[in-house]
Amino acid sequence: DWTAASYVETSVRELKEKLGDDKVLLGLSGGVDSSVAAMLLHRAIGGNLVCIFVDMGLLRKDEFESVMESYQGMGLNVIGVRAGDKFLADLRGVTDPERKRKIIGRDFIEVFDAEAIKLKDIKWLAQGTIYPDVIESISSGGPSVTIKSHHNVGGLPEKMNLKIVEPLRLLFKDEVRRIGRELEVPEKILSRHPFPGPGLGIRILGEVTAERVRILQEADKIFIDGLREWDLYNKVWQAGVMLLPVQSVGVMGDERTYESCVALRAVASTDGMTADWVHLPYEFLAKVSNDIINKVRGINRVVYDISSKPPATIEWE
Ligand code: XMP
Repeated sequence: DWTAASYVETSVRELKEKLGDDKVLLGLSGGVDSSVAAMLLHRAIGGNLVCIFVDMGLLRKDEFESVMESYQGMGLNVIGVRAGDKFLADLRGVTDPERKRKIIGRDFIEVFDAEAIKLKDIKWLAQGTIYPDVIESISSGGPSVTIKSHHNVGGLPEKMNLKIVEPLRLLFKDEVRRIGRELEVPEKILSRHPFPGPGLGIRILGEVTAERVRILQEADKIFIDGLREWDLYNKVWQAGVMLLPVQSVGVMGDERTYESCVALRAVASTDGMTADWVHLPYEFLAKVSNDIINKVRGINRVVYDISSKPPATIEWE
């Protein structure tokens, strides 16, 4: 019968045999899968695992620092790359969702590769692929309509001619979490909501600018911290805030305002393929809405997204 402890033991033994003294490169995203894959490999080959964590400038507020700290606490050898300026420059003036996704995906690979090329003697590229990703890529092999071009961590430096190792390839998400617990990956990482590869870039409808990233990060922090404080975070599969390309009239004191609007989104789901909007308590929504409008300069209106998937997707872009 399957236990996390026995899986880890077998898997560590197999990885040791397969990898020997080779050096392995892994792209970390701050998410569950890549973090657990890293810890499993670290258990097997220690310092021969080198990780790269790219900050695209599109993470949640303070997330880069907080995740880097967790990774260092886990003993991982991780190179943090701050590349926000490049992404912002390349996204200037772009409003089309698919163009945004393509630019972010391409820039990510460029930054990752530029860093990877500097490393010596790397033989393997490790990926945090899990079983549902394997299934998805097999079943989406035929011609079909692209709803969203997906982006994930793991640009492949072709010049480096790397072999691929995917230690979580046969596991489902709940199994990955159990193995993560066994490996003492911090609960903060294991219980994290899913977060899209392109980050806040696809939650900022319209142009992505430094100022709009700041506005969204602040609103998002109030919403997510609020969910934690009200003990709702773990009851929701995924939550986030969308910054809309809409301004509306408001009044603040005696002044007329004409500022941005955000939409809060919180969904229940098991796999992200379908999702229902969550009936968050009115008192909670009222508190979050007040806090956002009072504290975040540039927002004067908050709405709640009550659409389910299908037909509405979880992310707005
Ligand atoms: P949608 O918006 O298609 O999202 O209903 C379903 C789930 O996938 C996440 N998502 C992504 N994850 N790269 C990812 O790794 C991506 O490009 C991407 N786009 C959407 C989304 O957050 C939700 O959990």
